Amino acid sequence: MGDFEVIIYEKSNEIGYVTLNRPDRLNAYNLQMRDELYQVLGAIKNDPEVKVVIFRGAGERAFCAGADLAEFLTAPSPIIARQVRWERDIWGLFLSITKPLIAALHGYVLGSGIEIALCCDIRLAAEDAQFGLPELGLGIIPAAGASQTLPRMIGGAKALEILLTGRWIKAKEAHQLKLVNQVVSRQELWPAAKRLANKIKTYDPIAVSHAKQAVTRGLDLTLEQGLELEAKLSSLITALK
Ligand code: COA
Repeated sequence: MGDFEVIIYEKSNEIGYVTLNRPDRLNAYNLQMRDELYQVLGAIKNDPEVKVVIFRGAGERAFCAGADLAEFLTAPSPIIARQVRWERDIWGLFLSITKPLIAALHGYVLGSGIEIALCCDIRLAAEDAQFGLPELGLGIIPAAGASQTLPRMIGGAKALEILLTGRWIKAKEAHQLKLVNQVVSRQELWPAAKRLANKIKTYDPIAVSHAKQAVTRGLDLTLEQGLELEAKLSSLITALK
């Protein structure tokens, strides 16, 4: 893949590693990051050599401190800045990937940072991780999925509380709310994410992809429809054997 400036993409032993790489800006999500992430996600989706992916933020202080406020402030309005972001459906692309995606979260996980994490399947948090949705303070609402993905993960009341009050939550509470799967020490974050990826990659990638689809697509279905989906995906695997 081409050289990127604000994303690092590496591939090793069937695992893809995506690093948001603007540490001096707390990995704030700007248009260049959107474009580079779009290319990387496309590559991940189509590359049979990649079985599982880990996302992380560069530097000591953040996974991602949200949308780049400097871009917001130079755009004619936050609304127009937001519209520019919609030109590429990066979030749709994210959610269309049927390979397992792991988020390794530390420091600030704000706005788009939470939204990227919520597009992943398993979230590990370091003890220093802090989560928040500052959008209302900017006169906008989340537009990279959080108004839909967060309540699906932690329930409507808690999602609304976090959104409407702008309250930040720490790793321990994020775990209690089931926003993250596990909290580990800062030193353990990367080894724990790699152990998880190494375990998942030992399984048949088609079975893994179908299992992910059964769960993620099933969440939006009735139980009856979900059971039909499971039967269909299961028979597709059987047919391939
Ligand atoms: N967009 C652009 N730059 C950002 C940024 C963002 N979302 N978040 C942080 N930065 C930059 C700061 O401007 C600063 O740059 P500088 O060193 O040139 O001054 C650098 O990253 C370090 O951040 P700083 O604010 O000095 O760190 P802090 O520890 O004092 O505060 C935060 C950390 C996260 C509390 C604070 O940076 C913040 O509130 N950021 C904005 C969060 C936000 O509202 N995001 C938008 C969500 S929609």
